[in-house]
Amino acid sequence: MLTNKLIAARAGLAALVAAGTLATTLPAAQAEGTVNIYSYRQPFLIQPLLDAFTEKTGIETEVLFLDKGLEDRIAAEGSNSPADVILTVDIGRLMNAKEKGITQTVEDETVNSEIPSEFRDPEGHWFGVTTRGRVVYASKERVEQDTITYEELADPKWKGKICMRSGQHNYNIALFASMIAHHGEEKAEEWMKGLKANLARKPSGNDRAQAQAIYAGECDLGIGNTYYVGLMINNEKEPEQKDWAASMKVLFPNSEDRGTHVNISGMAMAKHAPNRDNALELMRFLGSAEAQSIYAETNYEYPVLPGATVSETVQSFGKIKPDSLPLAEIAKNRKAASEMVDRVGLDDGPAS
Ligand SMILES: [Fe+2]
Repeated sequence: MLTNKLIAARAGLAALVAAGTLATTLPAAQAEGTVNIYSYRQPFLIQPLLDAFTEKTGIETEVLFLDKGLEDRIAAEGSNSPADVILTVDIGRLMNAKEKGITQTVEDETVNSEIPSEFRDPEGHWFGVTTRGRVVYASKERVEQDTITYEELADPKWKGKICMRSGQHNYNIALFASMIAHHGEEKAEEWMKGLKANLARKPSGNDRAQAQAIYAGECDLGIGNTYYVGLMINNEKEPEQKDWAASMKVLFPNSEDRGTHVNISGMAMAKHAPNRDNALELMRFLGSAEAQSIYAETNYEYPVLPGATVSETVQSFGKIKPDSLPLAEIAKNRKAASEMVDRVGLDDGPAS
């Protein structure tokens, strides 16, 4: 049984989507003016963008938000699926959608000119819209240096000082895949053993929990995504998170050489998109500098286009230089990275 929340703007559509019969039951005229989005991204993040899209094109958007099982759902709906565009985060999920056969190729000059090639699938199955850096959170009080490399995280000088979430989380798998892409498996494994030896505790919690641990003095360095820092700084609901963020600084690893590892939020055209033309219009719009900036601003991310505006909060972290190795190349090492995490026993925590 799939658990999901239906956030369709119209209750009628929600019922149709739930029944999986949208494509055959919507009147043709209405179907022409609509694009159906299946989203892992929360409605508040994408609504400002979709409003701007409708204003510009007159095309209405309908959103099905799911927090899990989106790919399985589209696969199960098969050729009757109303899904036109898929919005999600993480290269792992985008690759998984492609591998499941629920996406189709988009070869469009506009989209390709908008999205730098390192942030899209060479076969056109997925496209990045925003990026997020996987950075080092460092205690302001206890860490003097203002630069760092991922390689340095294995240096014994950090013994007992590093905190991180599970090595098997998608965000870390992509980071480890990039280490393999740059250094080869053997060296990457040596590095991971060094990282494990430097852990302050067994990997646990989410990225924000690592900032909390720095605040509490449990560790000096944490590994986390950039946007969580923005979410903590501006968190009115849980203001204690402002203190966590205030206790740390953002270090962009490898800024002086290959650049910082980044992951993406992205989009894909669903395989059986019933409103293909509208879906393409939406993808062109989402790829535009204007849309990337709105999207990035809402969640403290970076537009994939270098030079597009970022929020003041994000600017306050400092400058990011993203690793220019294509994400599709990095992601080829995801499986090897996951096996390595198990082999090394990273999630068991520091060796005693
Ligand atoms: Fe996240």
